[in-house]
Amino acid sequence: MPNHVIVLAAGQGKRMMSDLPKVAHMAAGRTMIGWVLEAVRPLQPTSTVVVVGHGAEQVVSHLPAGVVPALQEEQLGTGHATRVGLDALDDVGPEDTIMVLYGDMPLLTHDLLERLADRSDEVAARMVTSVFEDPSGYGRVIRDGGGLVVEVVEERDCDDAQRAIGEINAGAYAFRAKDLIDALGGVSNENAQGEYYLTDVIGILVGRGERLQPVETTPEEVIGINSQDQLTEARQLLQARTNQRLMASGVWMLDPDRTYVDETVTVQAGARIYPGVHLEGNTTVAAGAQVGPDVFAVDSSIGAGATVWYAVLRGAVVGEGCEVGPYASLRPGTVLEKGAKVGTFVETKNTTLGEGAKAPHLSYLGDATVGSRSNIGAGSITCNYDGYEKHQTVIGDDVFIGSDTMLVAPLTIGDNAVTGAGSAITDDVEEGALAIERSEQVAIPGYSQRRAERQAAKKTED
Ligand code: UD1
Ligand code: CA
Repeated sequence: MPNHVIVLAAGQGKRMMSDLPKVAHMAAGRTMIGWVLEAVRPLQPTSTVVVVGHGAEQVVSHLPAGVVPALQEEQLGTGHATRVGLDALDDVGPEDTIMVLYGDMPLLTHDLLERLADRSDEVAARMVTSVFEDPSGYGRVIRDGGGLVVEVVEERDCDDAQRAIGEINAGAYAFRAKDLIDALGGVSNENAQGEYYLTDVIGILVGRGERLQPVETTPEEVIGINSQDQLTEARQLLQARTNQRLMASGVWMLDPDRTYVDETVTVQAGARIYPGVHLEGNTTVAAGAQVGPDVFAVDSSIGAGATVWYAVLRGAVVGEGCEVGPYASLRPGTVLEKGAKVGTFVETKNTTLGEGAKAPHLSYLGDATVGSRSNIGAGSITCNYDGYEKHQTVIGDDVFIGSDTMLVAPLTIGDNAVTGAGSAITDDVEEGALAIERSEQVAIPGYSQRRAERQAAKKTED
């Protein structure tokens, strides 16, 4: 196993055309650097250093505990960056293995890194290569007549014959420490980009008679992300991996190509996911839940057997057997206890619906507690904000809130109480009472007929 890992992540990523440092871009639930470090983690290296530069603070904020950042003040090339990383390592023995990885390779897998780390052949260096149909943008791997790797030439420094080579340098290496340190000293910046290339170390070592072992793999594992379209390609491949893993574990998906589940999300076997579902952050879906079509859920939990469709959930807890949607918005602090229902065009925020409570249509419930089995009639809302402060509405168990009730908070409604449709309720309602607030209805007989006659008379006048 490698003793040390250096991840290069100081570049700006100009070709991304984005203010965000390149390795801080997200794909399928993790930043690029996050994916690389996830692939590294099971190797349990003694030390892991990430070389940061552009947007250093932002990149550092994504680093897990135990990973050490090293600042490369000026981005003078991958060779220079590796030297900055080496300086940040403690206690490097000459025979130690130092793995160097580029931070823009989110598709790296742990299996590939295990193969790379295997130093049983005692070579000075191992490097990952792959044959690409379209190798443009990558450094080409040059082999001699006997098939041995002799050097890596950057595309901009290639002649026509070299440019036609399909085998590329992936940007993942395992070096014997003393060889890396020695060879880096010999790297110059005399090339098309005026940079110190780490790739020159390969040619230098071969020139000294050292043997170099290529580790070949598929393009899907080593795509380097330099542009937004490559980021999208990587996202699709990462998403496909996550979806495959979930389906293999017993999750049902109608259309994995249109199912967007972050790596950080937990979905239990037996859950059913329809197309157009985005599950992000710390979201969990329990067995037997049906999610989608068209659900966006972040940092939310969906309980066993719940149904959630055409809905947005942010920081919401949906209990066992609940129904949500179609067309519901559950904002942070929403808790639906077992069997509760939030139906069509209902918005909730900082609100708990007790067991079996229902708000089936056209409601806003903010800063409220609704007791078990209570029903919120269509069009009823909490008036929780007086323009200055938010106030609480507390509704007891088995309450019937009539349609179009304005619940003016702060307000407490006792168990078993009823409110009449169309009421603006401003005072607390005691247990079991009916509260009704409307003006008396007036009926004027024969009105319609008289109105018609008036209209007809007016017409003949004109
Ligand atoms: C590099 C390789 C190329 C390889 C390709 C694979 C070199 C010279 N070229 O090219 O052979 O085929 O990756 O994707 O190594 N970085 C720093 N500091 C710097 C420069 C770069 O930390 O001064 C980091 C970047 O943030 C990035 C990584 O090193 O994560 C690679 O740099 P990048 O500019 O993307 O190199 P490529 O041109 O893609
Ligand atoms: Ca790159």
